Amino acid sequence: MITLAEAREAYRGYAPTYDLLFGPLLQRARRRAIRAANDRPGQRVLEIGVGTGLSLPYYRPDVRLVGIDVSAEMLAKAEARARRCGLAERCQFQLMSAEAMAFADDSFDLVVALFVASTVQDLGRFGAEIGRVCRPQGRIMLVNHFSTPAGLSARLDRQLSRFAGSLGFEPYFPLDRFLAETGLRVTASAPAGLFGRLRLIEAGKG
Ligand SMILES: C[S@@+](CC[C@H](N)C(=O)[O-])C[C@H]1O[C@@H](n2cnc3c(N)ncnc32)[C@H](O)[C@@H]1O
Repeated sequence: MITLAEAREAYRGYAPTYDLLFGPLLQRARRRAIRAANDRPGQRVLEIGVGTGLSLPYYRPDVRLVGIDVSAEMLAKAEARARRCGLAERCQFQLMSAEAMAFADDSFDLVVALFVASTVQDLGRFGAEIGRVCRPQGRIMLVNHFSTPAGLSARLDRQLSRFAGSLGFEPYFPLDRFLAETGLRVTASAPAGLFGRLRLIEAGKG
């Protein structure tokens, strides 16, 4: 489990080199998720834990996007990228936790969370908040790494788990725990790269 303060501190440290460390490695999964989700004109989209905005180039130009993050340093980079991509007028960025959002119920057509679920403090609150702000027929699109239930990589993830706070993410992150704790109603789930470690998950309100 990672506290909010630990996440803030970790991503303050990552911000200058995040794109180098996690850009190309995860970019195919980002592109795939956004292209699959952002297939309708004029959607009102919430991207949670938008980070440095590596997903922004894949949105349609008619999107209306709100990006939130708990790290001011990551968010500043997302704002700069939105300007470079010509999306500045269509994007707003807010320093806000996914676990306590200031948006009204049913505010968004699409809620996106890329590599965020394993960084939050309380998966129950995360799932409840995502469901609350997504409109009834809206869609929720997540990508994350998930640990295998057993084997060498599961043992390694468990060992690394003690460093979760300083890593800024929970290495041991099994899919069944994510599903049970978020309470999200999963409608589709598919491998999304890194030798089956990443999954693209589509969900509706729980
Ligand atoms: C692994 S990064 C992923 C960033 C981006 N989505 C990407 O694809 O590269 C996780 C991001 O989630 C943010 N984060 C962590 N906990 C959060 C929370 N409770 N609410 C909102 N953002 C959070 C971190 O600050 C960081 O920018």
